[in-house]
Amino acid sequence: MTPTGRTSRPAALVDLLITPAFPTPLVERLAAGFTFEQVQPDVDTARAELLARVGRARALCSTGADRIDAELLDAAPELLVVANFGVGYDGVDVVAAADRGVWVANTPDVLTESTADVALLLLLGTLRRAGEGFEHVRHGRWKASDPGAFWGVDPGGLTLGILGMGRIGQALAARVAPLGMRTIYHNRTRLAAEREAELAATWVPLDELLERADVVSLHVPLSAETRGLIGRPQLARMRRGVFIINTARGALVDEAALIEALGSGHVAGVGLDVFAREPRVPRALREHPGAFLLPHLGSATRRTREAMMRLCLENAVAVLRGGRPSTPVNEPRPDRARARARR
Ligand code: 8YV
Repeated sequence: MTPTGRTSRPAALVDLLITPAFPTPLVERLAAGFTFEQVQPDVDTARAELLARVGRARALCSTGADRIDAELLDAAPELLVVANFGVGYDGVDVVAAADRGVWVANTPDVLTESTADVALLLLLGTLRRAGEGFEHVRHGRWKASDPGAFWGVDPGGLTLGILGMGRIGQALAARVAPLGMRTIYHNRTRLAAEREAELAATWVPLDELLERADVVSLHVPLSAETRGLIGRPQLARMRRGVFIINTARGALVDEAALIEALGSGHVAGVGLDVFAREPRVPRALREHPGAFLLPHLGSATRRTREAMMRLCLENAVAVLRGGRPSTPVNEPRPDRARARARR
C-alpha cells in the first residue's frame, strides 16, 4: 500500500483518507483545498493499514470491504464522517459512529438502474445457461451444432419472487414485466397500491414467496436480522428447480447450504454477483455449470461509478466544510459532536 496525494500540511492530520481507488484528478477537483491520502486496497493487509492510518483522518471514504466498527472508530479521534462508497453500508457500525459524533453517509439512487440491469442479466443468463454457453465457445468445445444442447428455461410465465422491494427491487420488477414474468414480492412495508399496479407486483408473506417463486432475487440490505436469511429451511421450502439471483450481499445466503442445494438439483441454477467472503468464491460454485458468477460488478458502469465517487466525495467534503452529508444514514449524537475547526 502506498500513500498518494498531497501532504502539504506540516501537522500529521489528513483531511480525507480514501480506501476505494478513486482517480486522483477527481479527488483534487472535488476536494480542492483539502489534503488526502489514498489507501490502496489489498484484501489481506487492508484492516491493519486502515487502523494504522485512520487516527490522523478527519474524513474517511470507505467501501463495503472495510469494516468500520467500534475498534476502528476508537482509533480515529479526529474523524467526522465515514462516506461509504456504495448503497449498502453493512460494513459500518452506524450506531457506534453516531455515539462518537461521526456521520455515516452512503451513495443511494445513483446505482439503482445499473444494479437492476445486472440482476436482469443474471436472471436471463441463468435461465438461458449463458455462462455454460460462453465457456463452451471460449474453450473451443463447440464442434457441431446440436439442437438438443443448451436447453434453457423461458422467462415468460415464470413467477419471480423479489425479496426486498426497495429501489433496486422495484427497478428489477419494472424490467421483468415485459418478459411476461409474474412478480410477487416480500418487504417489511408494502408499496402503495398504485405503485404495485404500476409494477404489476403482488405482496406476499415470506414463506409464500419462497414456496411459489420459480426465481428468487435478493434485494435486502445485510444486517443482523437478514444475515443467513436464506438458509437450509428456506431453501427446502422453495420449489425443486428454483433459480436464485443475488446482487445484494453474499452473506444473506448460507453459502454452504446453497452449494448443497445446487449439488442435489433442488436449486437448478444461481446467478450471483456477490459472495459471503469476497473476493473468495468457493470452488464448488466456480466449478458448477449451473452457477453464473460475476465479480461484484453490479454498479460498475462508467456513469454509475463516477456518480458514486462524486457523491461519496461530496458527502465527505460537506462535513469537512461544517455541513451535513446529502445522503446520511445516521444522525451523530449532538452531545458528542466533534470539533470541526481545521487545524
Ligand atoms: C459497490 C455495492 O460495488 O452499493 C453497494 O452496496 O455493493 C456496490 O455498488 C461497492 O460498494 C463498492 O465496493
